[in-house]
Amino acid sequence: MTAIRFKKFNIDIYKPGRSSIRNIKKVVKLSANESALGVSSKVKKIISKKNLSFFRYPDPKSKKLRMQISKKFKCDMERIICGSGSDEVIQMLCQLFLKPKDEVIVPQFSFLMYRIYAKIVGANVIFAKEKKFKISVTEIIKKVTKKTKIVFIANPNNPTGTFLTKNELIKLRKKLKKNVLLVVDDAYYEYMKNRNYVSGLDLFKNKENVFILRRYHHNSC
Ligand SMILES: Cc1ncc(COP(=O)(O)O)c(C=O)c1O
Repeated sequence: MTAIRFKKFNIDIYKPGRSSIRNIKKVVKLSANESALGVSSKVKKIISKKNLSFFRYPDPKSKKLRMQISKKFKCDMERIICGSGSDEVIQMLCQLFLKPKDEVIVPQFSFLMYRIYAKIVGANVIFAKEKKFKISVTEIIKKVTKKTKIVFIANPNNPTGTFLTKNELIKLRKKLKKNVLLVVDDAYYEYMKNRNYVSGLDLFKNKENVFILRRYHHNSC
């Protein structure tokens, strides 16, 4: 009898950001978007008052939630997908769009899950150099080939904290062919107050060939 063999992947494991720093007592960790304020009182109230069936599976199509999201953000409900965190949606994107040997472009310093899920489905991950820790549209475009299927960027970027301006984002989408999906991860858009910044959702809402990722603040409302 032969033993079961698990597939091996040549993938670095995900390393979460540090939550503690020596000699600093109170560290507010932003890289995971966890609320520094604890669970919202509104959430607590809803959980305690309503007769919620947490022991049942939720609606797999998240219909009510998607309706509310589409109203709030004024976008077509049919274009919204909900996942168990952005991570699950990144995984779905890789499964839906990629086949082995396809190419995925990610910036040199970028959120690790893009490359992890792309590699799991057998795609090749191509790194685009950054300039002074900032994503470079020119460097991304240089890396595009016939095999390119997805370009992932987080704006602002994690872990560098730098961002692409509205014009740079528009330029990036324009320079990519229509068969390349541009994924703009808006995970940290709430932190941005700069005038020349615009969130991926505000810029590309209801447009073709762009996928926007948004997440809720953990433990908040
Ligand atoms: C840029 C970026 N995108 C997505 C995620 C994953 O988000 P979620 O916790 O919703 O899966 C993170 C988590 O740190 C992130 O930094």
